Amino acid sequence: MTVQPRRILVTSALPYANGPIHLGHLLEYIQTDIWVRFQKMRGHTCHYVCADDTHGTAIMLKAGQLGITPEQLIAQVKQEHEADFADFLVAFDNYYSTHSDENREFANYIYLQNRDKGHIVSKTITQLFDPEKQMFLADRFVKGDCPKCGAADQYGDNCESCGATYAAHELKNPRSTISGATPVMKEVEQLYFDLPQFQQMLETWTRSGTLQDEIANKLAEWLKAGLQPWDISREAPYFGFEIPDKPGKYFYVWLDAPIGYLASFRNLCERVGGIRFDDYWAKDATAEVYHFIGKDIINFHGLFWPALLTGAGFRTPTAIYAHGFVTVNGQKMSKSRGTFIKARTYLDHLDPQALRYYFAAKLNDRVEDFDINLEDFAQRVNADLVGKLVNLASRTAGFVSKQGGKLAAHVGNKALMDEVQGAADGIAALYEAREFGKAVREVMALADKANQYIADAAPWALARQPGNEAKVLEVCTDGLNLFRLLMIYLKPVLPALAQDAEEFLAIPALQWSDARRLLLGHDINAFKPLMQRIDPVQVQKMVEASREGLEAAPAKAEKAKSVGGMAPSPQEGGEAIGAEIGIDDFLKVDLRVARIAAAEHVQGADKLLKLTLDLGHETRTVFAGIKSAYGDPEQLVGRLTVMVANLAPRKMKFGMSEGMVLAAGPGGSDIFLLSPDEGAKPGMKVK
Ligand code: MSP
Ligand code: ZN
Repeated sequence: MTVQPRRILVTSALPYANGPIHLGHLLEYIQTDIWVRFQKMRGHTCHYVCADDTHGTAIMLKAGQLGITPEQLIAQVKQEHEADFADFLVAFDNYYSTHSDENREFANYIYLQNRDKGHIVSKTITQLFDPEKQMFLADRFVKGDCPKCGAADQYGDNCESCGATYAAHELKNPRSTISGATPVMKEVEQLYFDLPQFQQMLETWTRSGTLQDEIANKLAEWLKAGLQPWDISREAPYFGFEIPDKPGKYFYVWLDAPIGYLASFRNLCERVGGIRFDDYWAKDATAEVYHFIGKDIINFHGLFWPALLTGAGFRTPTAIYAHGFVTVNGQKMSKSRGTFIKARTYLDHLDPQALRYYFAAKLNDRVEDFDINLEDFAQRVNADLVGKLVNLASRTAGFVSKQGGKLAAHVGNKALMDEVQGAADGIAALYEAREFGKAVREVMALADKANQYIADAAPWALARQPGNEAKVLEVCTDGLNLFRLLMIYLKPVLPALAQDAEEFLAIPALQWSDARRLLLGHDINAFKPLMQRIDPVQVQKMVEASREGLEAAPAKAEKAKSVGGMAPSPQEGGEAIGAEIGIDDFLKVDLRVARIAAAEHVQGADKLLKLTLDLGHETRTVFAGIKSAYGDPEQLVGRLTVMVANLAPRKMKFGMSEGMVLAAGPGGSDIFLLSPDEGAKPGMKVK
């Protein structure tokens, strides 16, 4: 089948410039990269652009903490991001920054166009203001006591203890998380993008049939509930673009972030020449535009963005493709479990193509979450790539070399060759539809047939008898052709392996249409090992290297004791059972489910965390020696645990401890707080 050439622009969401790339991000960039590489192999014109998302309060504050300018921070992070992406073989045609001239120009243009059409409105509101830092405070920079249940240390928008939602100024004893000062109320003029004006347009656009069902449904829900004007201005000090007609006010980071797609593409056009920006972005443009994003940012891409573009006279994207969130071993990525794995930490231990393959093997076109099961990961990569794909070449190449390194002039098993060649269109359709898992399954089914054929023909047995040379060469020529065909189909996923295969087979870069031909009467090079098995020890080392607070862990005996009830242990699971107690003693212990309403460091204590435990109708303060395992107390907030609720209060150096939480483990970073299933209710008795 011949393929009509298309012009396609593809983007991935722009990662924030305040932190490193991790495995969660990589799901998106690898998914997009596979799709882009596939389009290019098909002979389409395809441009893949991205950028760092550099503006906003978080980046400004982080730079301040590091004692550098935001410009220095974003330059440094961009370098790290680009290195991570390159090493994972994510091949952007342009990687740019939202802090760029192009982006400022487009942001101004889009804002002014929308303003002139009457889509920008202004309103005076009162907002919390940090008198010390002289800045307005977004909700997440204000903490205080919940106005409803009184739980301490709640954010300015909702209470993690009782679930109440409220406005930041309703908090009791509010304080700025930036300076600790008590905020005051201050009036400010706020600019809004008047989204409700786009209700009709968005209803039509979201029903245009190009969105995933889950997204279309979600957007329909929001549209039905009614849209709200979107606040797009922020007060100085703010790291971002000053609003052209409002000195001292800045565009909110999410206004100029998606505009970064235009800016990066414009920069590509200027840099390489021959690509016309308007072919892709003018109102009547015929090229295709796709945004790959995570499910958490659907509202920005499915509502604000198409409305902003329409208001400014640009086209809207052809489609938005959202994916779910990465979990590791069935749970949210966690620093204490060592499953919050940075791209760089992975690269220090494992082959990037292994992760690309694992992602591809399990990805589909839906918005579901994606679990990386580390055991399954190693096993699957070893079985499929080393055991099936590379094996086809490694067990046939030697016999060809022995006969001079030239492939036979004809194939032996034409039927099998036809079948594998005939699969090209079907596999292409699966890639196009982002059903990578199905594509990989189909390729592996063919690999099984190919390996079965080679095993049955057993060239190694034939080669032992003289006079079989022609037959041996024929079978091995088949084996290498099968390998080559499967390599074509997996090239979008495994670009470096494909390149090594091209070198070994002495052929130019493989295109999708090359599956129509076979490699016959052709000189090949000597075979070199193409891929290493994953050693589970390396996976373990990666997890260890990702565990936070490791270096800070004190000596074992000490830290185990600090938990309270736990005896020091020589090794995991190896501790002696304590003195016997009777059932009556046991029944005296009142164990209750508690929700951790707040968790914080204790000034001057290197092992303790101060926990505020919500028991349903009362809260308790407990000092627990679990800091070595939970160095980031924030991650504990909201979690359920089990506490001894009737322990006599104990006066400690830092305050009164009103109970004890249950934890197990040898100590150090290996202390695990007992967690009942979600669904248990605070206050419930544990039996
Ligand atoms: N800066 C915004 C995007 C602006 S786009 C105009 C942002 N940045 S991010 O760094 O938080 O995330 C970048 C992308 O990675 C998002 O699409 C996000 O959904 C995705 N992921 C971040 N963590 C993720 C997981 N744990 N799992 C899967 N994808 C995740 O959002
Ligand atoms: Zn509350």
